[in-house]
Amino acid sequence: MCGIVGYIGNRNVTDVLVQGLKCLEYRGYDSAGLAMRNNKDLKIIKSVGKIINLEEKVKGIHDKYCSGIGHTRWATHGAVNELNCHPHSNANVTLVHNGIIENFRELRKELELIGYSFKTDTDSEIIAALIDSYKGNKYDALIYAQMKLKGSYALVIMFGDEKDVLYAMRKDSPLIVGVGNGENFIASDISVILPYTKKYIDIEEGEIVKVTKDDVLVYNESGKVSKDVKIASWTILDAQKNGYEHFMLKEMNEQIDLCSKLYNKFIEEDNYSEDIPDISKYDKIDIVACGSAYYAACVGKYLIDKYVSDGSVQVNVDVASEYRYKNHFYTGSSLLIVVSQSGETADTLACLRMANKSNVDTLAIVNVPSSSIAKEAKMVMLMLAGPEIAVATTKGYFTQVLELSLIAQKLGYIKGTIDESLKNNLISEFSNLKSKITSLYDLDYSSIAGKVFDKEHIYFIGRCLDYVLGLEASLKLKEISYIHSDVYQAGELKHGPIALIENETPVFCILTENEIFDKSLSNAIEAKSRGAKLYLITTDEFEFDEHYFESIIKVPKVNDFFQAVVNIIPFQFIAYEVANKKGCDIDKPKNLAKSVTVE
Ligand code: G6P
Repeated sequence: MCGIVGYIGNRNVTDVLVQGLKCLEYRGYDSAGLAMRNNKDLKIIKSVGKIINLEEKVKGIHDKYCSGIGHTRWATHGAVNELNCHPHSNANVTLVHNGIIENFRELRKELELIGYSFKTDTDSEIIAALIDSYKGNKYDALIYAQMKLKGSYALVIMFGDEKDVLYAMRKDSPLIVGVGNGENFIASDISVILPYTKKYIDIEEGEIVKVTKDDVLVYNESGKVSKDVKIASWTILDAQKNGYEHFMLKEMNEQIDLCSKLYNKFIEEDNYSEDIPDISKYDKIDIVACGSAYYAACVGKYLIDKYVSDGSVQVNVDVASEYRYKNHFYTGSSLLIVVSQSGETADTLACLRMANKSNVDTLAIVNVPSSSIAKEAKMVMLMLAGPEIAVATTKGYFTQVLELSLIAQKLGYIKGTIDESLKNNLISEFSNLKSKITSLYDLDYSSIAGKVFDKEHIYFIGRCLDYVLGLEASLKLKEISYIHSDVYQAGELKHGPIALIENETPVFCILTENEIFDKSLSNAIEAKSRGAKLYLITTDEFEFDEHYFESIIKVPKVNDFFQAVVNIIPFQFIAYEVANKKGCDIDKPKNLAKSVTVE
């Protein structure tokens, strides 16, 4: 969602801010703006729509600035227009804000009573007035704002009477300081600083950061805080397209090398390494996530229920936005697993905090090491996927499924439901996974896409693991191609969904499980009898009458612990090719945000 960049130093401030905002585009936004300072004045420039519009507006500006702040806005309070776009100024204070201020209406009334007036409909402008209203030094004014504000915020603040300083503070919304030589950066996302520096400082909640070009001073209620300067493990190359037409395509291709990267990290001397969390002491496990991460969680539950549990462990999955409003009857040996690529998804973070508060053990499967979820969970299994820029996740989901599978395998091995010989087979399959998935990258997905890209509705059917995979396949397609698609358990087709089948309705049949192949096949044929065009994804082990199908994709048969990560690859490509044929903005689909930091 919204993104923040701040810069103070000798480079061309406008360029650094615009380039920074471009790095943040992937998060999703509808307008963007900058505020820049020099000795004489403060200039604010805003524009609605893509960053390129803002770039056009700043082209003619040749003034030299010493500091500035920039923002991409994803509207929450007030319409998408230039007025509501950040930065916001009120009296002596100009700022950019990510997050939502829940008590902004009360604060607005209080501030109006003492003479402040407001130009915008945003909650963010209130913060500027609130800080300004404090009569005292700047540090105390920011502490005062922290006390008064309810909700979430990452803020970078400029005071009209102090030209060489940026201030920053945060609550429930990420913000880091990038540390340079004679220059410093503030950003909501590490990818912004990578072209200039790998050194960064995490800002913790309750801290106030004062940034000049030569110094980063951090204070909390006890005074000055000494902070570690960390080194980012991601490089600028990780955050660039490297010749691929889209980030999504690049990230799908990165899945091949991720197989070996994860194998080397999690397998040690032919055994599951210590880096895979041992969850065998828990008898009640809740797995919670949003979007694709939730669908990865569904695969994890399926694997534990079917292949690992000896009845001594009960696994539930839920979407975080539902879980947080339900009652939970935790036992002394409950575990909450949260799954999140960004580590900042508001609902997932709220569930983690709820469990931490109830003293329930928590484990995060998370990609961004400096994220709130990574910092607050008791145990962490990092996804090691590198930056994921395309809004629709591919390598993120792939890694989440793989890591949940490894947790399940280790659990089964400890419990004895996976014996030594099965464990050895699984580890050997894991070592061959890279070559198995590589074979799927050269198939012809474009011709399948050509047959379905102009349809209004596309359905997916499957049973058990195939159905769970269909959830992600269908989501991927609708996210980036905007085609309505849905997934049904094949056996449920007759209980309603078959009424939707018309002449030529495309139905993708996922039939990779031995036990249920014949049953699902006859469900598919029932749809065909009503006019559906069938597209089959199956494994290379079955024999059947191929004439029922428009196209057939055969994926390599692997153990079910790995089948989901193999099966998802063709669906990622089909979604990609369909979106490409429709001319959609693949990396930045409309209305979607990469990291959903509000409820
Ligand atoms: C958004 C993204 C999805 C992602 C979901 C959860 O909806 O567009 O791709 O799966 O958030 O994100 P997380 O960062 O928590 O995995």
